[in-house]
Amino acid sequence: KNNLVIAIDGYSSCGKSTLAKALAKKLGFIYVDSGAMYRAVTLYFLRNNINISNDEQVADALKHIELNFHSRDYESHITLNGEEVSDEIRLMHVSENVSEVSAHKIVRHEMVKQQQRMGKSKNIVMDGRDIGTTVFPEAPLKFFMTADPKIRAERRFKELEHKGNNSTTLEEVFENLAHRDYADTTRKESPLVRADDAIILDNTDLTQDEQLAFALERVEPLL
Ligand code: C5P
Repeated sequence: KNNLVIAIDGYSSCGKSTLAKALAKKLGFIYVDSGAMYRAVTLYFLRNNINISNDEQVADALKHIELNFHSRDYESHITLNGEEVSDEIRLMHVSENVSEVSAHKIVRHEMVKQQQRMGKSKNIVMDGRDIGTTVFPEAPLKFFMTADPKIRAERRFKELEHKGNNSTTLEEVFENLAHRDYADTTRKESPLVRADDAIILDNTDLTQDEQLAFALERVEPLL
């Protein structure tokens, strides 16, 4: 086995995907945004009124969901049954429901299976919450990212603004992040926790270039 998997986990809106994309681009690896998968499933559940407490309905719905990534310039573009949903999955109504959906055992089981398949024979950088602990516990390089919650909310707020959103306030974004961090760290199924061998990266005061340099320094010995 000579492919390399880099796992990046951490709290919501810590810049995981920004770093993961930059790393993938620099190294020529494939970037996989595992959060986008949970978001797309959530969007499908919302659209089809799937009752999350009905296991049979959840399992059946998952059979009707096909997710695909399309790498364009290392931006992650995801399709849900052929439809481009990359922007819609970032909207607040999805963010508000994703933690509940992603805590579901059947949902996680299916997503983890698909994620493991993607990392089987390819060089990838995958970001999420349980990549270093559950999806690829054997990954040779793991990062655990964190940053000041206020900074994180401001970053996500700006990102939403940039995408033309003007209905969500900074306070709502802050509350949503706090809620998701709490839900993600306290859930029963593979909660967000730092893997023992994950390198902590607090980027509160780091530029994107500095984070990339920090990560590359750790990758180089493995290449
Ligand atoms: O990374 P992002 O913030 O887009 O992820 C959205 C949500 O998906 C997270 O709040 C978390 O509930 C869930 N998630 C997860 N496991 C992953 C990636 C995301 O449970 N590996």
